[in-house]
Amino acid sequence: MRVLSGIQPSGRLHLGNYFGAIRQFLQLQAQGHECFYFIANYHALTSCRDAKQLEEWTLHLTAAYLALGVDPNSSTFFLQSDVPQTTELCWFLNTVCPVSQMEKATSYKDKLAKGITPNMALFDYPVLQAADILIYDSNLVPVGQDQKQHIEITRDLAGKFNTAFDSEVLVLPEPKIVEAVAIVPGTDGQKMSKSYNNTIEIFQTAKKTKKTCGKIVTDSTPLEDPKDPTNCNVFALLKLVCNEEELPEVEEKYRAGGFGYGHAKNLLAERINELFAVDRERYDALISDKDTLYDILREGGKKARNVAEETLERVRSAAGILTTY
Ligand code: ADP
Ligand code: TRP
Repeated sequence: MRVLSGIQPSGRLHLGNYFGAIRQFLQLQAQGHECFYFIANYHALTSCRDAKQLEEWTLHLTAAYLALGVDPNSSTFFLQSDVPQTTELCWFLNTVCPVSQMEKATSYKDKLAKGITPNMALFDYPVLQAADILIYDSNLVPVGQDQKQHIEITRDLAGKFNTAFDSEVLVLPEPKIVEAVAIVPGTDGQKMSKSYNNTIEIFQTAKKTKKTCGKIVTDSTPLEDPKDPTNCNVFALLKLVCNEEELPEVEEKYRAGGFGYGHAKNLLAERINELFAVDRERYDALISDKDTLYDILREGGKKARNVAEETLERVRSAAGILTTY
């Protein structure tokens, strides 16, 4: 089974990215699948206009993936921009993609609703994502719930291309979404997202984690009163970081009363800090060794380009596009 997924370097990695996406990346890698994991820096360029910032976030995400356990010896780990075949395939897919389909895409409509003036690249975002996936003949794409529509669009475009050129050149992928995690809430209760300023970052100090957890929005039930765990942002996050024994105990404390939101937030920060303690040490070592990060990405890019070029040759040939080099 060939697995592929990517994350945009549009900010610092947070718990939503980990529980929605990266934890699955690691499980699939451990199961021995052929995994391709990358950094979607061309996608980030649809929103970032600060070259230094984009470079910094790209290296942050590189060190973060590695620190969390993406293993460049067993997975192909690379930068989207190291595989120019992807943007070339995007062009082929553009030729079979109806404008009306992109106008209806949820993430595009959300951005319009926020008042963002769209550029062509933002409009084309799902087609580039489809190219990311299809260029490696990927079978399975582990992502969070919010990406489901993009995988559906990918399947649709692959089908349209195959039909248009009477070929079976492109492989239709399946999404892999952990329904139990679905959408990890941020400190304000909305979806945790780099663009909403509501994240709990993975790679920050224990002290900073405690401070961020302290900001999670709750209702104002007094400390001594019983509380409803099913309706609490802090509990929704505790569900992700407490083990099976501890979770029912915490739930019981909520219902019994005498356990305040402050206690719950401190417990949450403690569990997050424990969970990522070793990864944070690894991250600190990696982020200060840029040469190693570049070497790892360079090697992964080489492997990815070889696979991508083979797919692209099939695509060009199916569409009658000649090249002479
Ligand atoms: P962000 O919204 O912070 O910019 P991305 O769009 O870069 O995050 O998402 C990277 C991956 O992490 C995707 O697979 C996405 O589905 C997943 N993800 C992001 N935020 C969440 C969340 N709050 N809950 C679950 N999964 C998430
Ligand atoms: N759009 C994805 C996100 O925001 C990132 C992404 C780009 C991606 N290309 C991909 C995810 C290909 C999976 C497969 O999270």
